[in-house]
Amino acid sequence: MDSVREYISKHKQRFLDELFNLLKIPSVSADSAFSQDVMDAAEAVASSLSAAGCNTVEVCETNGYPIVYGEKTINPALPTVLVYGHYDVQPPDPVELWHSPPFDPVIKETELHPDGAIFARGASDDKGQMFMHVKALEFMVNNDLLPCNVKFMIEGEEEVGSESLGNFVKENKDKLANDIILISDTGMIANDVPSITTGLRGLSYVEVEITGPNRDLHSGLYGGAVANPINILTKMIASLHDENNHITIPGFYDKVEELSAEEREVMSHAPFSIDAYKAALDIDDVYGEKSFSTNERNSIRPTLDVNGIWGGYTGEGAKTVIPSKAYAKISMRLVPHQDWLEITDLFARHFADIAPAGVRVKVTPHHGGQSYVTPIESLGYQAASKAYEATFGKIPIPKRNGGSIPIVPLFEDELGSKSILMGFGLDSNAIHSPNEHLAVWNFLKGIETIPYFYKYFAELNAQ
Ligand code: BES
Ligand code: MN
Ligand code: MN
Repeated sequence: MDSVREYISKHKQRFLDELFNLLKIPSVSADSAFSQDVMDAAEAVASSLSAAGCNTVEVCETNGYPIVYGEKTINPALPTVLVYGHYDVQPPDPVELWHSPPFDPVIKETELHPDGAIFARGASDDKGQMFMHVKALEFMVNNDLLPCNVKFMIEGEEEVGSESLGNFVKENKDKLANDIILISDTGMIANDVPSITTGLRGLSYVEVEITGPNRDLHSGLYGGAVANPINILTKMIASLHDENNHITIPGFYDKVEELSAEEREVMSHAPFSIDAYKAALDIDDVYGEKSFSTNERNSIRPTLDVNGIWGGYTGEGAKTVIPSKAYAKISMRLVPHQDWLEITDLFARHFADIAPAGVRVKVTPHHGGQSYVTPIESLGYQAASKAYEATFGKIPIPKRNGGSIPIVPLFEDELGSKSILMGFGLDSNAIHSPNEHLAVWNFLKGIETIPYFYKYFAELNAQ
């Protein structure tokens, strides 16, 4: 399939221009100030699917943001690939830390990517990666090389919990019937160390509120005599990890899948430099659960992290005050067999239990989802592995990832098919951070690799 390289070099500039137009739309799903932009992004994705050759394209209304559905059926007897991705993005803040505006994409050279990287919110997560599939479809359709039926399902609420998509999937099982789900919304180890994501962590996200006195108080008149909600909240949070960085919530580890010594041994061979890791983050040491390596801590082990904490006076100068309330947002990353609803419950009960008299505790669960593992023996994984081998010249390494895509396990429960996580991003892409980017090389490599997946998936299914 040498023609894919030719096609890409011929159309490279247009592919980039089209992606830039999508990146210019600030489709921030978390912030209602951007709701029209999120809707506009859905329309833009729909147009791109029509242009790429889908014969049916719909912008499906939901209670939240629409789901863009596209279909190209060539022969019902052939296997069907369902592509999932998302057109919504994370908020760009803190905007002042971006070196160029988040919704004004530019290509800049970096140390790691001397040939240039696309800087914009969503460049890697997930517009840039989702768009690889659109362009790969265009190539296959225009060159009569599409060997499978294709369905696209691109949502606009991934970054806020995929609530509408869950219902959409449950209500449209026939429409979405497929043999394999293909997703590019993760990363690889490095451009010269291709890898395929075989696992995602689950998630439980909660907000906590500690209430003390019924109003903010003078910290001189009342200080020392009543519970200060911020003092209490920070104490409670600190107690959630012990001296070994184990989480102290009773029952938290009861169902955690323990990997065998053999599995851990295999994992430890994945190329990794702790010095490069520390240097990239400007830290003098790593930190985490005792007896586990960095790569284990961020993939096969569960975690608990405070994502934000606030309360009291944070304005200019000083104000002597004991606040009435203190708040925090807390996320727990979960691993196979931990159930996110059960963990949310364990957290809520424990947090109420450890609060001293003198304060009230409120725990509000946000969203969450189960973890996911995909077997490397499946036809889909084999096809993906051969596809990377064809374009990277190396057999990709299977690797569990620490991030979450909570809708993926639901796909398997509702549609009965496996998801293949063919990511082309890198951890250094700064997704969710200022200066998110995707190397032009990775963007084009994704477009080049995807058609091979279709080719090998069709061949393996025909055997
Ligand atoms: N694409 C990411 C998840 C991801 C990134 C997984 C890199 C593996 C490697 C996704 O958009 C995301 O950010 N997910 C959220 C969860 C969601 C419920 C907000 C996450 O992992 O925090
Ligand atoms: Mn994503
Ligand atoms: Mn994301």
